[in-house]
Amino acid sequence: MDSRLGDDLAQIPELIDATSAYAVRILDGLAERPVARPPARREPLPLPAPGAGTRGALAAFAERWEPGFSAGAGSRYLGFVTGGCTPAALAGDWLTGVLDQNPTSGLDSTAPDLERETIAWLRELLGLPAALQGAFVSGATMSNFAGLAIAREWLGEQRGVSIAEHGTAALGPVHVLSGRAHSSVGKALSMLGLGRAALRPVDVLPTREAVDVSRLASALEALDGEPAIVVANAGTVNTGDFDDLRAIAALRDRHPFWLHVDAAFGAFAALSPGHAHLLDGLAEADSICVDLHKWLNVPYDSAIQLTRRRDLQTRVFQNSAAYLGSPGDDPDFVHLTPENSRRLRALAAWFTLAAYGREGHAEIVRRDLALASRLGERIAAMPAYRLLAPVRLNVVCFTLAGDPTGIGRVAQAVTDSGEAFLTTTVYDGVPALRAAFSSWRTTEDDVDRVAKALSRAC
Ligand SMILES: Cc1ncc(COP(=O)(O)O)c(C=O)c1O
Repeated sequence: MDSRLGDDLAQIPELIDATSAYAVRILDGLAERPVARPPARREPLPLPAPGAGTRGALAAFAERWEPGFSAGAGSRYLGFVTGGCTPAALAGDWLTGVLDQNPTSGLDSTAPDLERETIAWLRELLGLPAALQGAFVSGATMSNFAGLAIAREWLGEQRGVSIAEHGTAALGPVHVLSGRAHSSVGKALSMLGLGRAALRPVDVLPTREAVDVSRLASALEALDGEPAIVVANAGTVNTGDFDDLRAIAALRDRHPFWLHVDAAFGAFAALSPGHAHLLDGLAEADSICVDLHKWLNVPYDSAIQLTRRRDLQTRVFQNSAAYLGSPGDDPDFVHLTPENSRRLRALAAWFTLAAYGREGHAEIVRRDLALASRLGERIAAMPAYRLLAPVRLNVVCFTLAGDPTGIGRVAQAVTDSGEAFLTTTVYDGVPALRAAFSSWRTTEDDVDRVAKALSRAC
């Protein structure tokens, strides 16, 4: 054994203590750490031949890399849609590495059952029926990818071919209809060989990001009975808007289509009595995307995908081999998602659900919703800014009251202040800023600090 490795093996408890003390210092400093670090390119150093041991690696990381890392796990990182990491999720994530399970095969441990239990808990948390079976993937993009892969197989079934067997050439033209699909849907269609051009945007309602259901009905009508895919959006990334899922699902009485719902973060609206109605009809979807590294507050990377058609899912993702066995009626995860081997992502989610339960997670969601409203009110009261949409969920979308092209400078000034991180977007042709609330750590004091940073930046 390499001497550094041997030395480390002999002092695992001390090394874990040292890493833990270092981690605690980072966590204690999160509130005052500049929220985002403008990236300064670092050139790679040569690979060390003799290594430095864990203590040496820790010292090198602390000196060279950690100071440039953002406070993404903190309370004022409002860019993209970024959750934090609850204490229990962190414990679960550490133990994921300690136990180093590969849950995709059911041959050697109970880890796959922990994953099944976690999915059942998530379903219960979000009020979804057991008919929707799930599996873990790395994020909402992969969840959309998996859902649309199953949809593609369904389209093949409608036309009497298996795309998993014969490839997309056997499918012919594909129509994917959506109001304001997230960019990851186009990416998924590209990866699936269906092509980004298969996505046909349908008009949204005036001043909204929700699809106009009558326009969607007309677009389906025009397909004249040809099966299609509809991607409904439950929580758009710019303004947290929701399609009318119940009305969309009802269109299946007249038109054949696979209903995929991107509820990456919007699914968690189920935990707020004032917002749960926005998800009315979600249970009728054929496949659903739910991200966990957003509003469940587990660390990257983690999401689930859910579907009613596990048979089609298995057709797409099965990986039969003599040493792995065949899928059978209750397939191992190796037959259900793109990866053959992966970490036990479910453990961090299991820990946070076991530690805080429905009530703890509902409190996080309700608090974030209240904080988004509070920031919305503060911005509406500032003459320099104007809201571009009402705060429907956890995203505040706004721009400058004057020339909106200056909003990029505002974003930069806020980042440079170290107080907060918000990301830019374009909403209905207008350059804008978005503040997305999804962290368990964020408080009213944080909103006040963000509002002050914004008022100084304009
Ligand atoms: C609605 C929606 N779908 C999909 C995604 C993609 O998520 P991920 O980056 O986890 O793949 C996002 C990310 O913000 C999103 O908001």
